[in-house]
Amino acid sequence: MKPLIAPSILSADMGRLADEISAVEAAGADLIHIDVMDGHFVTNLAMGPKTVRAVKKYSNLPLDVHLMISNPLDYIDSFAESGADMISFHSEATCTPLRVVDRIRELGIKPGIVLNPATPVSHLYEVLEELDYVLILCVEPGFGNQSFRRPVLKKINQLLTLRREKSLTYRIEVDGGVNKGTIRDAAEAGADIFVVGSAVFDRSNYTEEIKQMRTLIDMEKVE
Ligand code: DX5
Ligand code: ZN
Repeated sequence: MKPLIAPSILSADMGRLADEISAVEAAGADLIHIDVMDGHFVTNLAMGPKTVRAVKKYSNLPLDVHLMISNPLDYIDSFAESGADMISFHSEATCTPLRVVDRIRELGIKPGIVLNPATPVSHLYEVLEELDYVLILCVEPGFGNQSFRRPVLKKINQLLTLRREKSLTYRIEVDGGVNKGTIRDAAEAGADIFVVGSAVFDRSNYTEEIKQMRTLIDMEKVE
């Protein structure tokens, strides 16, 4: 699977959001990752459908919306109307994940489920075939610029093994603490979508950062 790089605008300069989006697009991003936080599921507030709509206006890239919210089902329709192309929600946030997945798919959007670092892959055994992607969070949700939790790598590897065993096609997305020091390990473990927040937006040359990360995840060179 072609590795995809998804800059997370949580670390962007929000006063210049349109410019920031154009800059990462020109720098070679494949997706735009949008972190939605409700101050309830996580202790932070960030972005909503209106932000997604604004990003849609300024970007031609697919929008990857990561919902860190309680009761995700209540908000799927409004994120769909706002232009989301992919929507993921947390396994820990609902007892009825299949209902949420079904609604996302009904609206023509790719569904994904997110696991916090302490949530095992076994929570997804019964739903894997329904998913377009699984997002493995490598930090506790809520904030950018945290350190990558290395034990999470084995969950990425478990998902890779399960994908092969069950002949499934879901992508494996990795988010939180991904940078030039960790991205290759995530790729070797089996990730194929890489969310990068501070590792791009906190640097001055986005093109150079994305280029270097792409070299690190070039699968022909990953052993
Ligand atoms: C964490 C968010 C991440 C975050 C990543 O709650 O889901 O997408 O923005 O930021 P970095 O790459 O700085 O860890
Ligand atoms: Zn995220």
